[in-house]
Amino acid sequence: MEGKITGIAGPTVTLAMPGLKMYDRVLVGAARLFGEVIRLGPEGAVAQVYESTRGLGVGEPAISLGKPLTARLGPGLLGAIYDGLQRPLPEVAAATGPFVLPGSQWPALDAERAWTFVPLKQPGDKVAVDEVYGSIEEDGIRHLLFADQAGVIATMARGPITLAQPVAALTGGATLVAAQDWPIRTPRPWRRKFSPTTPLVTGQRVIDFLFPLARGGTAILPGGFGTGKTVLEQAIAKFAEVDVVVYVGCGERGNEMAEMLEEFATLTDPWTGRTLRRRTVMVANTSNMPVAAREASIYTAVTMAEYYRDQGYHVLLLADSISRWAEALREISAALEEMPGEEGYPTYLASRLASFFARAGVVETLGGKIGSLSMILSVSPPGGDLTEPTTQACLRAAGAFLMLDTALAHRRHFPAINWFQSYSLYDQAMAGYFGKEIDPAWAALKRQAQTLLQREEKLREVAEIVGAEGLQDLDHLVMHTAARLRQEFLCQNSFAAEAFSTPALTLKKAAMLLTQHTVAEERLSRGEFLTDLLREMV
Ligand SMILES: Nc1ncnc2c1ncn2[C@@H]1O[C@H](COP(=O)(O)OP(=O)(O)OP(=O)(O)O)[C@@H](O)[C@H]1O
Ligand SMILES: [Mg+2]
Repeated sequence: MEGKITGIAGPTVTLAMPGLKMYDRVLVGAARLFGEVIRLGPEGAVAQVYESTRGLGVGEPAISLGKPLTARLGPGLLGAIYDGLQRPLPEVAAATGPFVLPGSQWPALDAERAWTFVPLKQPGDKVAVDEVYGSIEEDGIRHLLFADQAGVIATMARGPITLAQPVAALTGGATLVAAQDWPIRTPRPWRRKFSPTTPLVTGQRVIDFLFPLARGGTAILPGGFGTGKTVLEQAIAKFAEVDVVVYVGCGERGNEMAEMLEEFATLTDPWTGRTLRRRTVMVANTSNMPVAAREASIYTAVTMAEYYRDQGYHVLLLADSISRWAEALREISAALEEMPGEEGYPTYLASRLASFFARAGVVETLGGKIGSLSMILSVSPPGGDLTEPTTQACLRAAGAFLMLDTALAHRRHFPAINWFQSYSLYDQAMAGYFGKEIDPAWAALKRQAQTLLQREEKLREVAEIVGAEGLQDLDHLVMHTAARLRQEFLCQNSFAAEAFSTPALTLKKAAMLLTQHTVAEERLSRGEFLTDLLREMV
């Protein structure tokens, strides 16, 4: 289908082209820039263009590809680094330099690479839709191949295969291939969804102990400038106990992402010993890249994440930051001259975010496997104001709220998670799990820690009024232990050996501090001197 450009506004163009459908993928202008139809109206179709529209002219040609924006799914995603449109950045850089040339098209998966294929079916066997017919060894993960059509297998490959050739032929001529395309805005289907029951261990003591996350759950990390969002997202990407990580650098600094890539090439996953790069798919749409592709980047990422979930894996999607995605949405909405909602964001911001969060979960897949997709998204509210629309919309949809506190960051208390304001809706269920798997005292110790931190806060207020001398010995003891909890337990330096802690180590550390406190409290009540006790406790 062909037509032409009749108008240009920011990252959007109006097209005169009959027969276009919503979300059709288009190539616009002489440079053949990527675009996607986002509105159909009497004045023509409007497409958002994923590359800079500078230099584009009215009257230039446009063509429709007649299909929506898709992600290519298959072996080779692990370890890949893509832009928001799934163009492989290292390959692009090797061929054309550090910038993606407008309109350049690149295959997302290497069609030449040979994979060792292990068939699960023989010629003559029946295969059903969504049934596994074989697998590929992909970087330490058994990559399952599902049939997308039913039939009887006529021929089946053995040994090495590539994505360029069919893996199997069915009687009647249809073929099965190891890669497929999936429209990024359509959630991949599942059979049943469950509520999360197992923890998503992050390796961060403050999270795993006080605000535990769940596999299949969602969490947001809102925090003002410099509060440690990126460092925390990256620490979780390194240490989380999952099979696959999809990391989206969304509108943030490119150098941070580059450093992360370097580091991930050498570090290993503490749970399995696999190189971190080999369990991670990176999507980079950093601040120096076109803004509209950022809008698509989170959908490209979640589609790849769902694909591994469908193979029965635990997948974690991290995005830094979802606010930059919301800003891209606002820019596009403004170009469409839509009625603006709060602070200029489109009125559908909250519903878009809610449906994005809804793609997380623990599911029974169509192939009968159990897989999970968890999400942890950072939020950068301007001026640290949590009442702004993006934070509020995320708050309503996410299961855990880990608030990064500017005051804590200033005191260099990292991760700067505020222990009074943050919460996790998975708290009870996960404490139950840790109680069974790690130590029956888990929930009680946690309550004790929270009580001590609350008492410290009250005592600090009292001390401000009456002076520290006005406090009782027991109060001093509480202040002492609470300070130790903050400094030795809640603080965790991401750049030191302690950056990662298993739940068992986390509990051991908490138990050590809290038991010392309980013993000291007892001895104090028996008349021993506070100074002696404090001296012993360090
Ligand atoms: N867990 C941590 N351990 C040690 N240092 C940390 C930790 N978290 C943050 N920091 C320190 O705080 C600095 C700022 O962190 P970071 O870049 O993650 O903040 P941010 O919230 O992403 O900032 P921005 O709003 O600019 O994106 C880091 O460079 C580091 O020095
Ligand atoms: Mg950051």
